Amino acid sequence: MRLVLIGIPGAGKSTQGNLLSKQLDIPYLSTGHIFRTIAKEKTKLGRYVKETINAGLLIPDEKVLQIVSEYLKRPEYKKGYILDGFPRTLRQAKEFKEKLDKVFYLKVPDKEALWRLAYRNDTLREDDTVTAIRKRIEIFHKITEPVIDYYKRQGILVVVDGTKSIEEVNKEILRHLGKEVKGNKVRDWHRRKKAIIAVVGLPGAGKSTATRYFKQEKGLPVVSFSDVINKMIDEKGLPHTEEVHKKFRTDIRKKYGMGALAVVSRDKIAEALKESPIVVIEGMRSWEEYEEIKKSFPDVRIYILYVWADKDKRYERIKRRKYRGKLVGEERDLNEVLGLNMGPTIAMADFIVKNNFSLQEFYDKLEEVYRQVYFS
Ligand code: AP5
Ligand code: MG
Repeated sequence: MRLVLIGIPGAGKSTQGNLLSKQLDIPYLSTGHIFRTIAKEKTKLGRYVKETINAGLLIPDEKVLQIVSEYLKRPEYKKGYILDGFPRTLRQAKEFKEKLDKVFYLKVPDKEALWRLAYRNDTLREDDTVTAIRKRIEIFHKITEPVIDYYKRQGILVVVDGTKSIEEVNKEILRHLGKEVKGNKVRDWHRRKKAIIAVVGLPGAGKSTATRYFKQEKGLPVVSFSDVINKMIDEKGLPHTEEVHKKFRTDIRKKYGMGALAVVSRDKIAEALKESPIVVIEGMRSWEEYEEIKKSFPDVRIYILYVWADKDKRYERIKRRKYRGKLVGEERDLNEVLGLNMGPTIAMADFIVKNNFSLQEFYDKLEEVYRQVYFS
C-alpha cells in the first residue's frame, strides 16, 4: 500500500504516519525528518538545509526528488510506504511517478495547528519558532494546496477532519483503507448493516440532483417514489398541474394508505438492496412511508437526508424547468408538508444539506453524507 499524508504543519501527519506504520506494518518516511537529520551534518549541504528549514522555507524540488527516489529504492519500501511531507509542490507530485493508493489530506484550521505546535513537546524542533511556523503555513496554502487538487482530480484524495482526536482521525483513515482496529489488531472492515438513504426536500430543493450524484458518482441504485406518480400521469397523457398531481396522490393513498408509495415500491427496494449495500430512495414524503419502509426492512438502517434551499431559489429553479414547470408555489409546498405529512420526515432528518450555492459545494456535502453512511 502506498499512502501520502498532506496537511499544514501541526495537522498531525507525523502522529498519524507513525501510528499507521505500526498498525499496517509498512514503513513510514518523513521528508521533514530526513532533512532534520541532514541539517545536523557539518557539511555544506547540512548547513544549507539547516538554514532553509529553520526559516520555514522549502528545500528545492530537485534535491527533494533525488533524496526521496534514493530512499524508496531500498528493499524495505518494496511492499509499500507512508509518505509524510512529500509531495509538497506540484512539480514534486508530477515528477513522482509511483502509483499511489490514497492521499489523505488532514484538514485543520491554521489557528488550531498554531496552538498545537506551540504546545508540541514530544519533539524539540529548531523550526518551531512562531516566525518559521507561520512561514510554513503560508507556504502550504500557496504551494502545497495545488497538490491537493492534483490528487483530487486523480480521484485518490481523501479529506479527513484533522480536528478530531488522534484516535478518531486514525479510525477514519483506516476505514477508508477498508480496515478497523479490534482489540489490538487491525483487520478488514466489514459493513454490518445495509442502508437506505431517503432523500427528502421541498420542490426545487435539489432532490433529483442529489440522487443523480449518488447514482452516477457512487454507483448506488435508486428507487424513485416521485416517478411512480409522474409515470401514472404521463401514461394517461395528462398535464402536470398541482390539481392533477393532487388527484393521483389522493387516489393512490385511498387505496394503500399514507404509506402508499412505499407499499407499491417494496419489491423494487428489496431488489436494489440485494444488488447494493446502500440504496437511495428519492421522493419519500410522508412519515407513514418511512414507517412502511422500516417495517418492510427491519434490518436495514434508514437515513433521512433533507435537502434544503431558500424558497426564492427553489421557485426560481422550478420555473426554469420545461417539464412540470407550473408546479410551483406555497400552496404546493404546504400540500407536501401538511397534506402529504412530510413535516415529520424533515424534522427527524439524519442529515441536512443546504443547497443554496454552487453545485460543487453541494456535491462535496453529499460526499460527506455518503461517507458517513458508508462507514457507519
Ligand atoms: P515537516 O517535518 O514535514 O514539517 P511540517 O509540514 O511543518 O509539519 P509538522 O511536522 O510540524 O507537523 P505534523 O503535521 O507532522 O504534526 P504532528 O503530527 O507533529 O517539514 C519540515 C521542513 O522540511 C519543511 O518546512 C521544509 O523545509 C522541509 N521539507 C520537508 N519535506 C519537503 C518537501 N517535500 N519539499 C521541500 N521541502 C521539504 O502534530 C503536531 C502536534 O499536535 C503534536 O504535538 C501532536 O501530538 C499533536 N496532535 C496531532 N494530532 C492531534 C489531534 N488529532 N488532536 C490533538 N493534538 C494532535
Ligand atoms: Mg511532522
